[in-house]
Amino acid sequence: MHIAAHERIIRPARNVFGSLRLPGDKSISHRYAMLGGLAEGTSRFTKFSTGADCASTLACMEALGAKVNRISENSVEITGVGGRVTPANHPLDCGNSGSTMRMISGLLAPQEGSFTLIGDASLSRRPMERVRKPLEAMGARLTLTDGHAPLAIVGGTLRPIDFTTPVPSAQVKTCVLLAGLQTDGTTTVRESVRTRDHSELALRAFGAKFTRTVDSVSIAGPQALHSIDGDVPGDISSAAFFLCAAALFPGSGLVLDSLGLNPTRATLLDVLTALGAHISVLNIEEKNAELVGTVQVSAPAEGLGSTEVSGPLAAQLIDELPVLAAIAPYTSGGIRIRDAGELRVKESDRIALVVKNLRAMGGEVAEFEDGVDVPGGQTLHGATIDSGGDHRIAMAFSVAALRAEGETLIQGAESAAISFPEFFDLLDLVAER
Ligand code: S3P
Repeated sequence: MHIAAHERIIRPARNVFGSLRLPGDKSISHRYAMLGGLAEGTSRFTKFSTGADCASTLACMEALGAKVNRISENSVEITGVGGRVTPANHPLDCGNSGSTMRMISGLLAPQEGSFTLIGDASLSRRPMERVRKPLEAMGARLTLTDGHAPLAIVGGTLRPIDFTTPVPSAQVKTCVLLAGLQTDGTTTVRESVRTRDHSELALRAFGAKFTRTVDSVSIAGPQALHSIDGDVPGDISSAAFFLCAAALFPGSGLVLDSLGLNPTRATLLDVLTALGAHISVLNIEEKNAELVGTVQVSAPAEGLGSTEVSGPLAAQLIDELPVLAAIAPYTSGGIRIRDAGELRVKESDRIALVVKNLRAMGGEVAEFEDGVDVPGGQTLHGATIDSGGDHRIAMAFSVAALRAEGETLIQGAESAAISFPEFFDLLDLVAER
């Protein structure tokens, strides 16, 4: 078979076994890059994300006047602008990264000047109205095309707001908090589901003060940030592919160390436990307010059971749902996913691609507007997978391919580099053939 540069063959595995250290968390790296770029002084980060998305954030901060020094592949030094960015005389390219575009828009709206944010074809289709609304309510001017990027911002002095996010979104929450940080008065963000709180923890590490309730964060601006040194925890959403792979093979054993275990991100461990996987967490410590530890996983002898992900769980697990759906046919009772309509506006329509690719592998699946029903007890065969250029789809179906009959061809496999360039090499290390 002819394999193109952007394709990858995945052969079935007999087992998944070994010990890995995952690259630094993408969400945390974005925030460290933005806050380090805005702060006064030089911040140093080790185990910084190696993904292309965080490189987009670093490049934007550099274009805005921060000094970025890549010391090695995963360590970076950032000298911040001390509160005032320099408007770039060209559009800021956010690449494939929704986090970059949505969060930087909040950082820029209170700054004097005009800024244009652009992205690739996928990012240019994603909804940006959700950041335009609060920032305009604060007094910035934002222009979109049909609700999408390019996003033009005319920034300046803003007024504080009390804002309730229309959909659970840590990116939107962060956007408003970054604007509030630089605005006179108290800005409050309220959310119906507690989304990942890396921004709150990072803001605190960089010296900002705010108050929190169960469902809100209030920040009194303006506040200055100081630099920090930090070790970025391993990315649990990248680990998800390996945790799910190990959960599929009775006799498996996988140890992942220095993994981020922030409770707003670690829901997958509960879901895998509910499915019957054996999980233990060791050596927990705190780094810049983020929890880090070692996770051991092995599969139950009788195989995985069944589960449902809906309500608040769907928002908390949003990045892990593609791989959960991709392994669902190998469970005994299947997996039901609902309240996950946001999956349709990620880097791709992840519900449509999960359905298409499970069917390509001979799987049975029912599609809903906000989720899927995947029955258990199925046997899948190798197939050609359309990743749609979406990193999480490419990796999710690489995991499904480990238990399929015959080889699977992943099209658009290079997209894994958006969050996890090391993925295929690490998969080869632990997949026993
Ligand atoms: C992210 C938040 C989530 C998630 C994305 C990263 C973040 O997006 O899907 O991969 O770093 O805040 P939403 O804010 O759109 O839910």
